Amino acid sequence: MTLILGLESSCDETAAALVDSDRRILAHRVAGQEADHAPYGGVVPEIAARAHVVRLAPIVAGVLKDAGVTLADIDAVAATAGPGLIGGVMVGLVTGKALAHAANKPLIAVNHLEGHALSPRLADPALEFPYLLLLVSGGHCQLLLVKGVGDYRRLATTIDDAAGEAFDKTAKLLGLGYPGGPAVERVARDGNRQAVPLPRPLVGSAEPHFSFAGLKSAVARAAASGAHSVPDLAASFQQAVVDCLVDRSRIALGACPEATAFVVAGGVAANGAIRDALTGLAARFDKPFVAPPLWLCTDNGAMIAWAGAERFAAGITDDLGVAARPRWPL
Ligand code: KG4
Ligand code: ZN
Repeated sequence: MTLILGLESSCDETAAALVDSDRRILAHRVAGQEADHAPYGGVVPEIAARAHVVRLAPIVAGVLKDAGVTLADIDAVAATAGPGLIGGVMVGLVTGKALAHAANKPLIAVNHLEGHALSPRLADPALEFPYLLLLVSGGHCQLLLVKGVGDYRRLATTIDDAAGEAFDKTAKLLGLGYPGGPAVERVARDGNRQAVPLPRPLVGSAEPHFSFAGLKSAVARAAASGAHSVPDLAASFQQAVVDCLVDRSRIALGACPEATAFVVAGGVAANGAIRDALTGLAARFDKPFVAPPLWLCTDNGAMIAWAGAERFAAGITDDLGVAARPRWPL
């Protein structure tokens, strides 16, 4: 059994967790920064980085206290090394390096996307490689065949915006504020998802890629027309995203008969309408559907600790000279 400390600071969540190789989450803490960024309608990178400086060390001390352990008890320190907002990534990675050096433990530089990609295995011990993953977050929208730790085949990506970005931009133009995804989902409950005709970009195309920029512009035009209520706009937008995600995933599932399961991860996977639609799609392909619990879908330290545990078990560690990477495809 090994115990890993995981640190996450690549966007607007400051988080740390202690997770062991038996999938026990001994402690986890997350501090969001909604109040810091809300006045600007989106994440301001420098404000995020400064907030991580203030919050990360107390959060690390907090999870050690919650779990009743010290740095001497852990086996390695895992920290997000990218991709993400570089100032924040540097805060977490340098903190991880300092802790690893001080405790004389190995450092594991984790790709944030690998954190999302492997998090379903933390939640579900039965989930075996290879599985088809729909990774939908604020910065990414990809379909990946997850074949093993560090072993990914990317089937599709977005040609413009990520799905979460589309939610955030739509929320902003509908005056729903930040963070956008949960706000759109909430307002959509009171709307008619068929009220506003909106495009489904790339639906029907042979490659399972995504595109959301045109959808966002169409919502902007529909909103400007004044003909629709905000709940109808939100519900119709959400339904268009659902239809795109389902259609694109359908193509990928058809191309990957070897997949043991259909898995969704990333912040947008917290959306109930999206989860319901993807559950139905998996059933049509006779695949188990796996979605981590909501708190594990949005950014957190446990997914980084778990990716660290998987890499550690595979004998992969990094030296203290490892660089932070704003861009880092899986
Ligand atoms: O994975 P995540 O926490 O951070 C990134 O790595 O990007 O994802 C954040 C994204 C944001 O765009 C947020 O609006 C979206 O996930 N999101 C949602 C919901 N909750 C979070 N989108 C739709 N519905 C939700 N309930
Ligand atoms: Zn993320």
